[in-house]
Amino acid sequence: SAAEKGGYTHFMLKEIHEQPKAVKDTISPRIKDGRLTIEELGMSDEDIKSLKKIYIVACGSAYHVGISAKYVIEGLSRIPVEVDLASEFRYRNPILEEGTLVVIISQSGETADSLAALREAKKQGVKVLGIVNVVGSSIARESDNVMYTWAGPEIAVATTKAYSTQLVALYMLAMYFADVKGKIAKEELQGLIEDLIKLPEQIQSLLDDVEQIQYFASQYVAAKDIFFIGRGIDYATALEGSLKLKEISYIHSEAYPAGELKHGTISLIEEGTLVTALLTQEELYKKTMSNIVEVQTRGAFIMLITNDDNQEANKVGEFVILIPKTNKYFTTSLAVIPLQLLSYYVSVGKGCDVDKPRNLAKSVTVE
Ligand code: G6P
Repeated sequence: SAAEKGGYTHFMLKEIHEQPKAVKDTISPRIKDGRLTIEELGMSDEDIKSLKKIYIVACGSAYHVGISAKYVIEGLSRIPVEVDLASEFRYRNPILEEGTLVVIISQSGETADSLAALREAKKQGVKVLGIVNVVGSSIARESDNVMYTWAGPEIAVATTKAYSTQLVALYMLAMYFADVKGKIAKEELQGLIEDLIKLPEQIQSLLDDVEQIQYFASQYVAAKDIFFIGRGIDYATALEGSLKLKEISYIHSEAYPAGELKHGTISLIEEGTLVTALLTQEELYKKTMSNIVEVQTRGAFIMLITNDDNQEANKVGEFVILIPKTNKYFTTSLAVIPLQLLSYYVSVGKGCDVDKPRNLAKSVTVE
């Protein structure tokens, strides 16, 4: 009913707008007197110092969180991270030695493949940390330790707020590991904590400005294919943007690391092909820009998502969306917001069943 949706036309839109609160609720209990604490981790400083490898295992959007997190954890703590799809992990005989931590990310805590991966890791004697939204779910119960995300109930099949809370949970984990391992200066950590605390209001500012995106969406409804490109963490964001769009609008889309385009995908670019480019990593601006120009000269129509201080922005994008300034590790949290809104409005524009897209389930309990 309309009441359940809090006045919004769909659960997805309601949940998109709940993100500032969900993210804040996930961060707040872990910042005490300006310091980061993750009490539920159940790992001593010695345990953390002896970590040799982290496997992040998940499905769908939670897997995309893992890909973003790989950049953050490796970048800050210098612990090697491998990200696996849960449906692949078990069947490839992963090397689970001492000093390995397996992190399972799951909104529902009931995804069959993720649960099976968890059991496999435990069987091999490795410690498992669950990042879970549903309290008391199977993955929460069977993990050695659980770090809950506090997104609240998520109804729409396409995840938005749970995804956003998973991202910040992983940022905090990365920061905590970096701190314990002495890989980060106190001032840098303090700066990251400040940036983290700012995310909810920055997300809110992006949500307050939907008109431009509604207009862009109207240009996208007739599209047959859409490409999402970016490098580094922007590639992780591109993956989620592409999944969101195809899940609810049924438009074929692909995410590509920008530098890989010329090894195949660029052959698909024709006059008018829509390309969404993500450009938030300053050290990669030039490289990604040259890829954008490459597709543009072949007729692509560019929607650019970039930082609000990027002087080059207006030179390339037909449509430009600016995201507020944060540090390079947290940009997915902001860049994904316009992508969620874009998918939502394209889906509405096409008359699709936004909250219950065909063939998909909120929680996949078969392997
Ligand atoms: C389904 C949902 C996705 C979700 C994935 C993993 O495919 O439609 O939105 O990302 O399952 O679900 P989980 O509950 O484990 O996060």
